Amino acid sequence: MTTAAERLEKADSLWVSPGRVNLIGEHTDYNDGFVLPFALPHATAVSGTRLPGKRWEVTSEQTGETVSFDLSAKVEGWAAYVAAVVWVLREAGVDVPGARLTIASDVPFGAGLSSSAALECATMAVLADLAAADLPMRDRPRLAQRAENEYVGAPTGIMDQAASTLCQEGHALFLDCRSLATEQVPFDLAAAGLKILVVDSRAPHAHVDGEYAARRRACEEAAGILGVTALRDVDVDALPDALAKLDDETMRRRVRHVVTEDQRVLDTVAVLRAGDLRAAGPLMTASHESMRDDYEITVPQVDTAVRVALEHGAHGARMTGGGFGGCVLALVDEERCDAVETAVREAFAASGFTPPDTFVVTPGQGTYQLSR
Ligand code: GLA
Repeated sequence: MTTAAERLEKADSLWVSPGRVNLIGEHTDYNDGFVLPFALPHATAVSGTRLPGKRWEVTSEQTGETVSFDLSAKVEGWAAYVAAVVWVLREAGVDVPGARLTIASDVPFGAGLSSSAALECATMAVLADLAAADLPMRDRPRLAQRAENEYVGAPTGIMDQAASTLCQEGHALFLDCRSLATEQVPFDLAAAGLKILVVDSRAPHAHVDGEYAARRRACEEAAGILGVTALRDVDVDALPDALAKLDDETMRRRVRHVVTEDQRVLDTVAVLRAGDLRAAGPLMTASHESMRDDYEITVPQVDTAVRVALEHGAHGARMTGGGFGGCVLALVDEERCDAVETAVREAFAASGFTPPDTFVVTPGQGTYQLSR
């Protein structure tokens, strides 16, 4: 099978950015907390050739559709992610040249695997390259996040753009979403005899944007009541005191998820540093329970996938990404992987759910250039 990059024709510049899964640390990024994503082998490739003037022509290899825009346009649909990057680069003082861009992607769309961040990051890399702009990789996630927040209008945190830009093959990216300090944590599944099975629940996403924004608002409101900049500033030891200061039961649950989830990221990093990958399993499962019971962002399909994976010997399992559908990660011994996959499929069929997509992933490489 050809990769996304191989399907593109010769151009002045060609860059690749991956989708991501998050091993642990969900809805912590916009609370200035900790996340531990890794890049997927599935990636989006963008090729670019300069055009005269300030005009951009963007073609999707998948649909054959071409969208053209200039600086006066407010672009909608998938091409908005490209226009958003043109906009944010110009805001950052980059003189973005006009260009013909072609996009090919292997990142499943709408599965919570950050296909939009992959598109933003690869587009940014190509346009920065064509502009010969001095734009360090470490500064790009904030810009791509701003493009998504302010141009596209989705109030996301920084995890997806950071993962797509900064992840390294064979590692998970430990990111402090406040300072943006990073550590590449070795995550060699094969050496430990393990696999990560991804189950794309294919559950229809409903009300995702509104629910995401509502969770974010509740966290910010809680931080205000507690007198802290962000929930990251509530230490897990101080959680009972913090909860006692909040009257609203729903808000208490939201805070409990975020504060305990930050601690689970720190604990997961500790076990990975110690080389004990299996010990990440129970932390993943605890994270799922917290998302299900306290943050209330799971749906029956993902809860089923997690439960069945655990019943069939997974060391841990959890939903990954923003929630209300999307994918589950199960950490399994290599020899149990097929059995877990089969059991999940059977359980989906028995429940009358749409059959899931399943695949095994290893930590891939963040944004990189291909020469053509
Ligand atoms: C989405 C957002 C991220 C993050 C996750 C939840 O993927 O884009 O910024 O908030 O949800 O962890």
